[in-house]
Amino acid sequence: MADPHHQGKFITLEGGEGAGKSTQVRAIAERLAARGIETLTTREPGGSAKAEELREVILSGFAKQFSPIGEAMLFSAARIDHLDQTIRPALARGVWVVCDRFMDSTQAYQGALGNIDPRLIKALERVAVGPTRPDLTLILDLPAEIGLARAAARRKKGAAADRFEGEDLEFHQALRKSFLEIAAAELERCAVIDAAQDVDQVSAQIWDEIRRRLLKESV
Ligand code: TYD
Repeated sequence: MADPHHQGKFITLEGGEGAGKSTQVRAIAERLAARGIETLTTREPGGSAKAEELREVILSGFAKQFSPIGEAMLFSAARIDHLDQTIRPALARGVWVVCDRFMDSTQAYQGALGNIDPRLIKALERVAVGPTRPDLTLILDLPAEIGLARAAARRKKGAAADRFEGEDLEFHQALRKSFLEIAAAELERCAVIDAAQDVDQVSAQIWDEIRRRLLKESV
């Protein structure tokens, strides 16, 4: 159900490792700004002071000591603060919010891969997210091998492997399947984007979805 206090539009980007989400978040913000639409870009886990502190804890591998549902609760705790401090105030002012990962990452990473009952994940979602659900979720889809190779190339430039990049190929294949299932279950909210295309093609396709679905333009 749409949030009645939600004036701006809420866009989330989801997908596996190395799908190029952060580049696309910047590209969306630039295109919206060129239209005169005030936009805030943010990310999860993180996006507010307390949630950024939890991000450090979660991605350091500390959260791995918890069960998948415990881990899902840590991500949800960060999400509650992020929504309260950053997302809802912006949407209430009419600002558009573009967020790199959100609730579908919990469903895919912790839910599907940790074999958690989907009803439990949905219950957590109701508590943490409430009515502030995304207006549009862009699922950046690509074969796990390509995503992992891209993430490895990024690491060569100095970035460390985080908690989930260290998992094996099978994990990342299951993750891809899980994101596609989320998209298939909520076609109105989700658009699947072929992220194996070159970066300009990906951003053109994303922009078409935004124009058609949120700006109500014919493309
Ligand atoms: P990050 O470095 O931001 O990765 P990426 O560039 O792939 O977005 O690390 C976030 C990691 O946390 C990523 O591996 C996905 C994972 N994650 C979850 O497992 N559950 C969640 O709810 C969220 C938001 C992220």
